[in-house]
Amino acid sequence: MPLNLLIVGPPGSGKGTLCDNISRDYHVVHLSSGELLREEVSRKTKLGKEAFEFMKQGKLIPDETMVRLMLHKANEPGAKKFGVLLDGFPRTLAQAKAITDAGFQFDAMIVLEVSDKSLIERSAGRRVDPVTGEVYHLKFKPPPKHIIPRLIIRPDDTEQKQKFRMKIYKDQLNPLLEHFKEKVITVNADQPIPTVFSEFQVKLKERGLGTTVRPASKL
Ligand code: AP5
Ligand code: MG
Repeated sequence: MPLNLLIVGPPGSGKGTLCDNISRDYHVVHLSSGELLREEVSRKTKLGKEAFEFMKQGKLIPDETMVRLMLHKANEPGAKKFGVLLDGFPRTLAQAKAITDAGFQFDAMIVLEVSDKSLIERSAGRRVDPVTGEVYHLKFKPPPKHIIPRLIIRPDDTEQKQKFRMKIYKDQLNPLLEHFKEKVITVNADQPIPTVFSEFQVKLKERGLGTTVRPASKL
């Protein structure tokens, strides 16, 4: 049976980083709402132009637009066959209800917990490689020296926008937890990157879920 997971966490909590590890070791298709939107922005599509106006301010894109985009991707044959890892979606109760009403069932909702102080530090030090799409952190996941000049800073990674995004996340979280309450798995993401992944693996296994393609990392 394919594994279907949701990853929820505040901005900069390490959703994308954890998802890279999960999609590498488990047979699941990683769909990041933020990455899909940034692709639309860089391709200058109609959706991308509309979305950018919200994203640059750290505001949420309207539910209807988000649901249409994510349902389209989650219904593609690869996602159906291998299972999906939805990163950053659903983010509102309306989005959660829409995906449930569309018939999607999830094995677990992974909720990442990180202190506000760490979130600010992670956002401030994040750098993205426009060539490979790899996400680095100047302190916690240092990039190779020779690519540093080409790295970019996301426009929503200013301290002011980060704090605004953190507030939006806090406002939306409780209804999401309530909607998926049977499925919630909390992971302490205020730990080094490999430890977060190990805790995720242990907790997933405790629920009797997930068969890794590679052996689970040691704690
Ligand atoms: P999105 O791209 O989803 O942004 P986000 O939720 O704010 O999360 P981030 O991508 O900023 O952080 P992350 O949790 O993935 O952390 P990462 O792994 O990069 O969305 C962007 C925008 O799109 C939204 O503001 C909104 O406008 C729109 N949008 C998206 N989805 C939407 C939806 N469903 N509805 C409406 N609008 C939507 O890690 C962060 C940094 O920390 C990196 O540098 C990384 O190297 C480092 N790091 C990671 N883990 C660790 C660790 N354990 N220890 C130390 N450093 C770490
Ligand atoms: Mg992300």
